[in-house]
Amino acid sequence: MAHKITLIPGDGIGPEVADATVRAVEATGVEIEWERAELSAAIIEQSGTSLPEHVLESVHRTGVGLKGPVTTPIAGGFKSVNVALRKQLDLFANVRPVFTLPGLKTRFEDVNIDMVIFRENTEDLYSGLEHEVVQDVVESLKIITRYASIRIAKYAFAYARKNKRRKVTAVHKANIMKLSDGLFIRCCREVATEYPDIAYNELIVDNASMQLVMRPESFDVLLLPNLYGDIVSDLAAGLVGGLGVVPGANMGEKEAVFEAVHGSAPDIAGHGVANPTALMSSAILMLRHLGESAAADRLQKAIAATFAEGKFLTRDVGGTSGTKDFTDAVIRHIG
Ligand code: NAI
Repeated sequence: MAHKITLIPGDGIGPEVADATVRAVEATGVEIEWERAELSAAIIEQSGTSLPEHVLESVHRTGVGLKGPVTTPIAGGFKSVNVALRKQLDLFANVRPVFTLPGLKTRFEDVNIDMVIFRENTEDLYSGLEHEVVQDVVESLKIITRYASIRIAKYAFAYARKNKRRKVTAVHKANIMKLSDGLFIRCCREVATEYPDIAYNELIVDNASMQLVMRPESFDVLLLPNLYGDIVSDLAAGLVGGLGVVPGANMGEKEAVFEAVHGSAPDIAGHGVANPTALMSSAILMLRHLGESAAADRLQKAIAATFAEGKFLTRDVGGTSGTKDFTDAVIRHIG
């Protein structure tokens, strides 16, 4: 029976990389019925709500979404639709595997990078609780709860055990934010005691950023609150070739939405040059979630072969090809 998936192409480069990903997924032979849900900055402005009902309803119905990026206005305008989606569906775990692609030239091509980032996805400074206390003084509330911290820590440790990972590193700034990050780190320690088979350590976020650049190969599983997770994910993406290649998954108890780490890239949108690897790799995570591991393996091998061949790479990773030629090459490698 065909899997029903909500496809949210998004805006900016979203529709370009979504079309490429649908073609590649379909080439694996897996049967999918796509339920298309349009969502863009323009639609949100028109509808006056940061998360139109039709999108929520569709993901509730199918249980699985594949999503392109959606633009969020900076310093004003509507609230982030991405944050709203994660909160409304309670997609509490943001999972971002970051690994070296064979054959891809990067500044770190001599080291083998293979880490998985777990970012708490529902609270912290993303609660959107901001107000002006008096003129020219604003306050933004950082919410950290025991409930959400334990939940993401358990998710990361359970993943580590299931996937034979050796070490979990919790990242924090509890030397300064003793209460909020202090609670987060205490919850991580508590969960760590239930997993004696997995090594556990802690790094302050500034030091973690330096260590990631100096010794990226020494990291395995990273566990972070929302804001540090967001920033460190982009840093980690930069280690393995940039935002064009790093996938992501937003996991809840019931629903899951798979999306790349990157945004709508307005600087290249509409030019046919966006790298679809990140969304294709997010679709690989989706296929594994659906139990379609053979199709996931085929697509993963085809992407690796396309990078190893190196003839049809997009500009962001040193090539000269566009989205379509790269996608055609991946599909040829699926065979
Ligand atoms: P961005 O990720 O869109 O772009 C950063 C840089 O990376 C740009 O130079 C862009 O051209 C490049 N890039 C990103 N993805 C690429 C790809 N697939 N292929 C080739 N190059 C790629 O980040 P930026 O510019 O900070 O944000 C743009 C908009 O996207 C903002 O409105 C932001 O709020 C939104 N955004 C949405 C996300 C989502 O929907 N999940 C996530 C992150 C940002």
